[in-house]
Parts: sequence; structure tokens; C-alpha cells
Amino acid sequence: SDRTNVAIIGMGTVGAGVARLLIDHGDRTARHAGKTIWLSKAVVRDLKKPRGIDLPDGVLTDSIDDVLNDPEIDVIIQLMGGLSPAREVMLRAMEAGKDIVTANKALLAEHGGELFTRARQLGRSIAFEAAVAGGIPIIANISQCLSANQIESLEGILNGTSNFIVSQMDEKGAGYDETVKRAQDLGYAEADPSMDVDGTDAAQKLAILSHLAFGATVDWRDIPRKGIDGLDPADLVYARELGYRIKLLATARLVDGELELSVAPTLIPIGTPMAEVRDAYNAIRVVGDAVGPVFYHGLGAGQMPTASAVVADVIDTAVGRTPITFETLEYFSSERPPRTAQRD
Ligand code: NDP
Ligand code: HSE
Repeated sequence: SDRTNVAIIGMGTVGAGVARLLIDHGDRTARHAGKTIWLSKAVVRDLKKPRGIDLPDGVLTDSIDDVLNDPEIDVIIQLMGGLSPAREVMLRAMEAGKDIVTANKALLAEHGGELFTRARQLGRSIAFEAAVAGGIPIIANISQCLSANQIESLEGILNGTSNFIVSQMDEKGAGYDETVKRAQDLGYAEADPSMDVDGTDAAQKLAILSHLAFGATVDWRDIPRKGIDGLDPADLVYARELGYRIKLLATARLVDGELELSVAPTLIPIGTPMAEVRDAYNAIRVVGDAVGPVFYHGLGAGQMPTASAVVADVIDTAVGRTPITFETLEYFSSERPPRTAQRD
């Protein structure tokens, strides 16, 4: 068909940004998809809440069922957050023949095995570029652009809220509580911001990246983690005097064939690229055995950077080129393949 009909479930910070790109920039999506991407429905809980965007009549609804039962809708953009009913919504949508785009890393870290297995069985796709590092295209880079490499290590600032808080405290002397509140007002924080500041969100993202980079199935709860919630402002001052900044760093590295993982506030020398990542920016340094080190930097949270990644996934889904192929999924679910191909 010359039109792909999409429905957004969850019109909060990210959903409203996605709607804005689809409505205001249909020319861009049409150019890249070669067809119209049409926003048919947008599901919310509270129909009266202002959304900051003019939606065409009939688009806003509070009925998930109507959307899932609508045979005209091809793609569900799941942006409601949380585990339930998000998990059930994705399963039901795929059973109804719809492909999925989501930014919900908590759900993928918790139920990714089940969801991707079901997607494979049903011949559906789940695209999730926005789930890690917001606007930085790290999922596509690790799973596609660096696929000729054995990834040796990756380390990164993966939680925009924590980085925003630490940099505001460090550079402006801001207080912890007021900065958490600002991160919430700016749309960076999770619905429960303790997931940002206690390292949970970074660990969930690290588990997803480790799956892609190393073929490892990691339970995010097994990753040793410490957040920025226990950081004393004086630590930031002492670190600076010694020539360091403190950043919440997520690390995965192969050591003698074993994967070492951690999330922790880490001293980083001032002047190095990772130390200069500010506000809600994220950064990831990946080392591959062929390419060497590669450094990615960009906004990891917030409305439009995240919407940028979501809409790119919608376009890929509309043209049938989602980056995670079924072959890749087989790779995830199998034992780690040999590092060197054998010759006959
Ligand atoms: P918000 O809390 O701002 O928005 C959530 C939306 O989902 C709201 O519109 C809410 O409706 C709707 N919703 C929640 N539960 C239901 C339900 N049961 N039925 C119908 N609608 C429901 O979240 P964000 O936009 O910030 O985040 C969305 C997802 O994207 C999350 O998984 C998050 O982790 C992820 N993400 C967020 C980023 C960011 O910078 N904010 C960046 C990357 C990923 P209502 O408004 O009526 O309450
Ligand atoms: N709460 C998350 C963060 C949103 O601050 O990084 C992006 O995943």
C-alpha cells in the first residue's frame, strides 16, 4: 500500500514529539519511506490533559482496544512506559499482525526474550533505537555498522537525567533535589525518577547493548550498580581539585572471554571527551577489533531527540528494513558463536 497507518500508545513527552514529527514533517517521512506515514490514533489515559500539539479530530482516544482491534493500523508506537500493561499491549498488537516501535527499555530489559521470541514466531518486528541513548543511533551502529567487528568493550554515559543532575551540581553548584525536579520538568526523567538516579535505567540499557554487542543474555539485576543518589556534593569538588569529573559510567568489557559489567559513579580525567559530556547528553565509546575506538555523543533524553530515533524506526518499519533482523535474533538466543569462522 502507498500508506502506512500508525498509532501511538502514550502521548507524554516522547509521544507528543513523535506526533509533531509525523504531523508537521510528513514530507520528510514520505521522502524516506517512499509512502505516506499516517497518524491514525493516539492513545492516552486522560483525554482532557493538554498535549501541546494540535491533533486532527478523531485521533485522540482512551481506548487501547479500539486501536488493537483496528485492522487498518499497521504499526504500534508503544510509548506508555512501565511493564504492565505495556507488555500485554505489545503481545496483543503483534498477534493482531502489527509491527512495533518502542522506546521502553525497562520492558525490553525485563521481557525482551519473550517479546522477541513472539515477534519471530509471528513474523513481526520490534524496533527500539530510542530505548538506549535517545537520539544517538547506537542500536543501529552496534548491530549493523560495526557488525564486522568483535566488540571488545563499550563504556558510556547512558542516563541523561543523572548526567544532567551531576553536571548542574558540579558546574553551577545546584542542589540535588531542585535539579531532580528540573530534570522531571524538562521531560528527561522516568515516571519514577529513582530508576534514573539509582543506576537502574543505565543497567537496563547496558543489558540491551551487551545483548547486541556481545550476544550475551544479561539480567540487568545481575549488573553491579551504584547510582548518583548517594553522591556527596563535596565529592564533586574534591574530584575537580584532583583534575577529575564524576560521571555515572556504564561499562561492559570482554576480559579473557568473560564479560565484565558495571554501572557506577566514576572519576574521569577533565579534558577527555567522556568527562566533558554535559547536561542530558549521553556518550558511548565502543572499541571493536577492526575499527578500533569509536565515540558517539548526543542528547540521550528529551522530547525531540528521542522522537527523532522513534520516527526513524517507524520509517524503517514501514519499508521493512528494521535493523534487528530475525537472523540477529537467532544469534541472541543461541550460545555465543565462535569468534573466528572456521575454513573447510
Ligand atoms: P510520559 O510519562 O511522559 O508519558 C507516558 C504516556 O503514556 C502518557 O501520555 C500516559 O497517558 C500514557 N499512558 C500510561 N499508561 C497508560 C495506559 N495504561 N493507557 C493509556 N495510556 C497510558 O513518558 P515519556 O514520554 O517520558 O516516556 C515514554 C517511554 O519512552 C518510556 O518507556 C520511557 O522510558 C521511554 N523514553 C523516554 C525518554 C525521555 O526522554 N522522556 C527517552 C527515551 C526513552 P496520560 O498522559 O493520559 O497520563
Ligand atoms: N530517563 C532516561 C534518561 C530517558 O534520563 O536517560 C532516556 O532513556
